[in-house]
Amino acid sequence: MNYPLNHGWSFSKGKPAEAQSALLKNAETIEIPHCVDMYPAQYISERAYQGDYTYQLRFDCKDDSPSKTLVFHGVMLQFDCYLNGTHLGHFISGYLPVYIDVSEHIRPKNNLLCVYVDGREDHEIPPFGKVVDYLTFAGIYREVELLCRPKAHIEDVFVQASLNGKVNLSYALSEEGEVRVEVHDGETLVHEGKDKDFKIPNVHPWSIEDPHLYDFDFYLGQEHVHKRIGFRDIRFGVDGFFLNGKRVPLIGLNRHQTYPYFGPAAPKSLQQDDADLLKSGGINVVRTSHYPQSEHFLDRCDEIGLLVLDEIPGWQYIGKDKNWRRNCCDFARRMILKERNHASLIAYGLRIDESGDDDELYGKIQAIKAELDPKRPSIGVRNFKDSHCLEQIYGYNDFSNDSLEHGVEPAKQIKGAEGKPILITETNGHMFPTKTFDPTDRRLEQALRHAKTLSDALSDNRYCGELSWCAFDYNTHKDFGSGDHICHHGVYDIYRNPKYAAAFYKSQGEAPFLEVASLVQPGDANEALMPKIYCFTNADYVELYKGDAHIGKFLPDKASYPGVPHPPIVVDDIIGETFHEKGISEKDGKKIVEAFNYCSQNGFSRLRLSHKLTLARFMAKYHMKFSDVYATYAKYIQSWGEGSVLWRFLAYKDGKKVAEVRRGPSTEFHLEAIASKDTLVHGDTFDCLRIQVLKKDQYGTTLPYASDPIQIETEGPIEVYGPNIVSLYGGGTAVYIRSKATKAPKESVVTIKGISDSVEVRLLVLPQ
Ligand code: GAL
Repeated sequence: MNYPLNHGWSFSKGKPAEAQSALLKNAETIEIPHCVDMYPAQYISERAYQGDYTYQLRFDCKDDSPSKTLVFHGVMLQFDCYLNGTHLGHFISGYLPVYIDVSEHIRPKNNLLCVYVDGREDHEIPPFGKVVDYLTFAGIYREVELLCRPKAHIEDVFVQASLNGKVNLSYALSEEGEVRVEVHDGETLVHEGKDKDFKIPNVHPWSIEDPHLYDFDFYLGQEHVHKRIGFRDIRFGVDGFFLNGKRVPLIGLNRHQTYPYFGPAAPKSLQQDDADLLKSGGINVVRTSHYPQSEHFLDRCDEIGLLVLDEIPGWQYIGKDKNWRRNCCDFARRMILKERNHASLIAYGLRIDESGDDDELYGKIQAIKAELDPKRPSIGVRNFKDSHCLEQIYGYNDFSNDSLEHGVEPAKQIKGAEGKPILITETNGHMFPTKTFDPTDRRLEQALRHAKTLSDALSDNRYCGELSWCAFDYNTHKDFGSGDHICHHGVYDIYRNPKYAAAFYKSQGEAPFLEVASLVQPGDANEALMPKIYCFTNADYVELYKGDAHIGKFLPDKASYPGVPHPPIVVDDIIGETFHEKGISEKDGKKIVEAFNYCSQNGFSRLRLSHKLTLARFMAKYHMKFSDVYATYAKYIQSWGEGSVLWRFLAYKDGKKVAEVRRGPSTEFHLEAIASKDTLVHGDTFDCLRIQVLKKDQYGTTLPYASDPIQIETEGPIEVYGPNIVSLYGGGTAVYIRSKATKAPKESVVTIKGISDSVEVRLLVLPQ
């Protein structure tokens, strides 16, 4: 049996010796997962958690199984553990679980567990030793549990399941024994036996589109272990990445595991929420940069068909010190053991991100992989060419995209990768940091840079695909970021609100989608110009209307973005069919419209000679003065006063309208609140949901410059995780709501009050 130990801990700062034998008086009662402080989303310093912290738990253990193991799924960074006054040892966790045998020390009643956590950055433990571009925080930030097992039990199971239905099992058992396995496909038993090699006939494969999982139940005497397993084949080659024999161009993002207020201590539901957001956000692969992440996140990736690349902890630096190197190898071993049953995991990241060559260290790590999981490939991520590649895949971070004209380098220029599969593992990021409240042109350029790098990468068949930097803005050390300790490199902000770049990725997915990356407000750009309007959509075309008047039909820009599945659609004509001037022929009208559109995008002062000549010719032909030309221009282009218009963008797929976006002058404003789910279950841990709060206008456009205060009130067994008063940030924020203990199901309400309106979110809170 597994007993979760996450509720009712005591926590205090410091490391008082008396905590080993008695509960501290002035301790705070907390719940695991826990970070040693609740930090603001911005302006947090790594200095805040360089210290000692004491966690204590009183608990009973009625289970009389002879083997008892305490499992800490994630403690940042290292800890000493005492049970009933006995020192059980010193343990290094960081991003990996720690198993402690407590069989000899545990009592049926009134155990006292005392954990001294040391959150300091220790130069003998990766990722530390030099600088690191992310914050690690401190605390017992993943769950704790007690495993009570018979003497003969299963320590570990490794299942290899292939597309042809073949299964190979290997076990680590505490004593000799025979394990019986049952395999279920839903309710149907499809295999039962003690063989380690067998075959499931007509297996239902695991894929991105249909991530089918089988239930494997292992029995050794009284003991039962359950795993969810997918049958699939993966292959990385010089000709790309193949899943179940089919080439899949990889389109991905990198993810850091931190959240506002929580740091890394977000419970299961928020880990799942991130995976769901990424999957519905149009990508097919995520890299858990730059360390092993929560099992809840990986389980969810298995369930929803989001491919994963993991990575050992680190950042650019390789220690020379022998303890550092031992810890690095140990982390690689523990990461593989933790993650090797995941169907979604397509390669291990077995090189410190962007580190130099070190054949001695990476040779050892390859030997560990060969011992634990020889078949699954590994990737090494570097940011330079001509590197020794001991891994099976050459990962390359290409930051050569310094403009909209250049995406990534051709694969043939990546010397050192000859004969190996190549995957671009990062682009963009620091090349163009972008905030949700940045001016539109910057937010658009970020999106187009992502479109360009992805298009270049997918146009070159030598690449298996591209993962860009990065999914979500993240907290970082003083040396990085925008001075606010945030790297604004995400396509979503730190609250998981989308920038236009997120809309670009979402448009690469198959669910009908349209986002217009413009407010279509002349005053938003310099000189009141109206730059070209980019539509991120997977539709076949977009029809633009000004009010009811049809302007034109616009097609995907395949010429500029040939590699991506769904190139953006560029609206470069906002007059189109509406141009009718008495006496002006249709042919001449088209030329005038072209010149007017150019003016509206670039300004009269930047008219090209050809446009000037066109206009001069028409002035002569139609006896117009320049003021007449300007008045005609203003009639079609300017939309002040009476001319204020509603722009309607209609997206069509297979001849059917699939989406519509409206833009117009914002005159009515409201708050919108969308909860990531509607039920919280206060179970093994507290549960949590994210409420996306956006300020919008009457057309549903998010108002990126809104920074109003909002106040949050709750009723029921729930609590706001974070401050109760916050400011919108780029037109939005996230409100996190956590469950509290309840004996019976309770209706609960969250009220979000803005300056002129308020919204309610109704929830149900359930006991487990
Ligand atoms: C890379 C690094 C990432 C992040 C990124 C910012 O060099 O691998 O961790 O720092 O730069 O763009």
